[in-house]
Amino acid sequence: MGYQGHFRVWRGSDQGGGLEDFTVEVNEGEVVLDVIHRLQATQTPDLAVRWNCKAGKCGSCSAEINGKPRLLCMTRMSVFAEDETVTVTPMRTFPVIRDLVTDVSYNYKKAREIPSFRPPTGVGPGEYRMQQVDVERSQEFRKCIECFLCNNTCHVIRDHEENKESFAGPRFLMRVAELEMHPLDEADRVDQAQATHGLGLCNITKCCTDVCPENIKITDNALIPMKERVADQRYDPLVWLGNKLFRR
Ligand code: SF4
Ligand code: F3S
Ligand code: FES
Repeated sequence: MGYQGHFRVWRGSDQGGGLEDFTVEVNEGEVVLDVIHRLQATQTPDLAVRWNCKAGKCGSCSAEINGKPRLLCMTRMSVFAEDETVTVTPMRTFPVIRDLVTDVSYNYKKAREIPSFRPPTGVGPGEYRMQQVDVERSQEFRKCIECFLCNNTCHVIRDHEENKESFAGPRFLMRVAELEMHPLDEADRVDQAQATHGLGLCNITKCCTDVCPENIKITDNALIPMKERVADQRYDPLVWLGNKLFRR
């Protein structure tokens, strides 16, 4: 059965804006994105929202619903009471372009800063051999849909614009970890993770893991193993001495 839902949607641009209230029809089985589309169709044709797949796979429709970072297309209306006001705001960590659409180019910049996979020389495509356990580890990280909800949530940059330069965010620290733990990758990424990508700023609060729509264990399976490697390489006195003696 349909009902009249209460929505509060942030509208504005990089010049500023505010919340606007709407009463809008909601039908059984709908998700928040359906209701946003109905608002566009019936009341606010110029309401800006980014989306593509409506299936939780393109990572485009990231926003905040009642203050929680979520995908608009994967949040069912049935999780809210019929008389509850549903507040939809853009991701807070990235600059607003218009209404619910943010400029996520920070993330693309961080992606470009990570040196690509460096396989051993002399081994051609098709000749790589890996154990299943290593394949599965990469597969978990590869489920990422690049929604950037984890980066949006991480407190290191959420309210600290000044940290953006030195912190790649959980999504890209996970990429560094994926490559570092790849048995065929020959680049040394441990120092880079700490010095360039800001791994030391992560204090493993796990908020990134909590919001990941793909349920990737970002903190446990990527960030903590990476921190352990940093500790081994940087602070183990024997490794330190070995590096001094043999790595010139
Ligand atoms: Fe989104 Fe999860 Fe990928 Fe982060 S790791 S960008 S939350 S899918
Ligand atoms: Fe941020 Fe996730 Fe670390 S939320 S502090 S990157 S565990
Ligand atoms: Fe593709 Fe929501 S529209 S993830």
